[in-house]
Amino acid sequence: MTKIKATNITWHEGHVNCEEREKLLEQKGALIWFTGLSGSGKSTIAYTLEHALVQRGHLCYVLDGDNIRHGLNKNLGFSAEERAENIRRIGEVGKLFVDAGIITLTAFISPYKNDRIAARETVGSDGFFEVFCDTPLDVCEKRDPKGLYKKARAGEIKGFTGIDDPYEAPDKPEMVIDTSSMSPQEATIALCDMLEKAGKIPPLGE
Ligand code: ADX
Repeated sequence: MTKIKATNITWHEGHVNCEEREKLLEQKGALIWFTGLSGSGKSTIAYTLEHALVQRGHLCYVLDGDNIRHGLNKNLGFSAEERAENIRRIGEVGKLFVDAGIITLTAFISPYKNDRIAARETVGSDGFFEVFCDTPLDVCEKRDPKGLYKKARAGEIKGFTGIDDPYEAPDKPEMVIDTSSMSPQEATIALCDMLEKAGKIPPLGE
């Protein structure tokens, strides 16, 4: 799917670099990669964090799986190969956003370890923070905000992550959040702290 077909192309450098954009924004570009089952709280936390960071004066953007699949990735389904392409494209878009100096939050199930490792390599590990929403399947299934677990159990959706399709948990994520015991607000505080410690945003009041 990612066979290189583009030939006779030349990289063009601009006159403004990432550091200059970061100086302008008073923040450093970073990518927080939320991974976890459908209904595990990825989007809820990402949008809560985005809101909090914007209130602190930071430029943020959420790339959300369901939303991106309405546009850029509308031609991709849920086979392992198509999920890999979904994640590859988001790794590449994320890299551009980070180069733009934006604090970027991605909310994709991203069930395969290797796809996430590749995304980390694309973005560069200095600016990549993997956050595992480790919410138990039974909690996700009880929430079932879109009614999809019910359909998957009834056999109306095939290859649904957690039901009849795999989810590979990360070995060493930068953070683990169990949303059955942590609120989006508590997660947001921990994530802001992580960004401060990594020097991506200044501490409050500075
Ligand atoms: S990923 O696996 O390729 O990372 P992504 O995060 O983009 O998935 O999209 C997941 C969303 O698509 C789910 O939250 C759900 O709303 C919807 N969806 C539809 N079919 C499936 C499926 N077979 N498995 C998982 N999610 C699905």
